[in-house]
Amino acid sequence: MGWLVLMYRALRPAIRDSQRSELASLFLYAAAAIPLFYLPALFFGPRTNFAVIDNWRFWIIHLWVEGFFELFATVLVAVIFVVLGLVTARTATRVIYLDAILYLAGGIVGIGHHWYFTGQGTLNMGLAACFSALEVVPLTLLTLDAWDFVRLRERRCEDCQTTFADRHRWTIYFLMAVGFWNFVGAGVFGFLINLPIVSYFEVGTTLTTNHGHAALFGVFGMLALAVLVFCLRSLAKDDVWPRAERFIRVGFWGLNAGLALMMAVDLFPAGVLQLWDVLQNGYWHARRLTYLMSGTFHTLEWARVVADSVFLAIGVVPLVLAVAVLLLGSRKSGDAV
Ligand code: HEM
Ligand SMILES: [Fe+2]
Repeated sequence: MGWLVLMYRALRPAIRDSQRSELASLFLYAAAAIPLFYLPALFFGPRTNFAVIDNWRFWIIHLWVEGFFELFATVLVAVIFVVLGLVTARTATRVIYLDAILYLAGGIVGIGHHWYFTGQGTLNMGLAACFSALEVVPLTLLTLDAWDFVRLRERRCEDCQTTFADRHRWTIYFLMAVGFWNFVGAGVFGFLINLPIVSYFEVGTTLTTNHGHAALFGVFGMLALAVLVFCLRSLAKDDVWPRAERFIRVGFWGLNAGLALMMAVDLFPAGVLQLWDVLQNGYWHARRLTYLMSGTFHTLEWARVVADSVFLAIGVVPLVLAVAVLLLGSRKSGDAV
């Protein structure tokens, strides 16, 4: 709620300006949907029936990540492009409306792919399986957007004739990573576990974790970092920036390599192994502590230390250093970042 108040304060002047009003209002509505859809978290307590808890739990998880976060992300990227003069406000507004229709049509009914086996009827299963499959449409559009980002890097600013890549290169790279992980994490790994027949055997196993990691950090983590880097570059002085940019470059590749290694070394193979065990010995067997803490499954979990270390040491640490360099650099030149 506090975040929403901050957003409102920052957007108020733009909302009052008739030229920018529509886009700024859409940005505020998309932001308001995020805390609004969190409210159902207050509808249950520790003693509530499990089916009721799971109902509201996924109302939050699913509608955030496959509904309102996606919408917010689209509006955010559209606003960045308008601010940079890359697209007109009219085009951006149209894209937002189209995306809103696509996401909300697929996402809201698709929520039932988390409720296949929580005591709801077969109608839920049929509708949810169909509508969540439709989510591939906006996802594909987003992935195509990622290709546009590649071409965008070569566009020249009309006043200064430098290419866009010169100034906001790493914002664009992080946005390309969003497109990539959207395709792999949400598209490929999400669809892998989406059909009711697959979900019946797989639900809540490591293939879910595999999808959750790739989609959640890959899409929304990278998006948050794109915005961070965009703000840092906009505020940084040109002479301080190259020192921080080196760290951002390393951090970008470290995070992506670390995340990819988590899937490759542990989550995907361990997920397939666990699914195989479900098919051989039953779901109860594959979720028992004795299975989880022994054999190849457990060895793979240890091997994941390598991936997590790459993520932390080559990904997170350099990015923190980049922020520190910019903060110290601007202090020295007497400004606040
Ligand atoms: C960027 C978009 C997405 C994000 C961030 C995301 C994230 C997640 C997360 C974190 C979970 C685990 C939730 C939990 O068990 O507590 C999950 C579960 C699931 N996701 Fe996604 N997801 C996305 C898109 C999709 C798409 C497009 C599909 C397929 C159409 C999909 C299908 C599923 C299914 C079927 C589950 C349930 C698996 C289970 O309960 O075992 N997701 N998702
Ligand atoms: Fe979902």
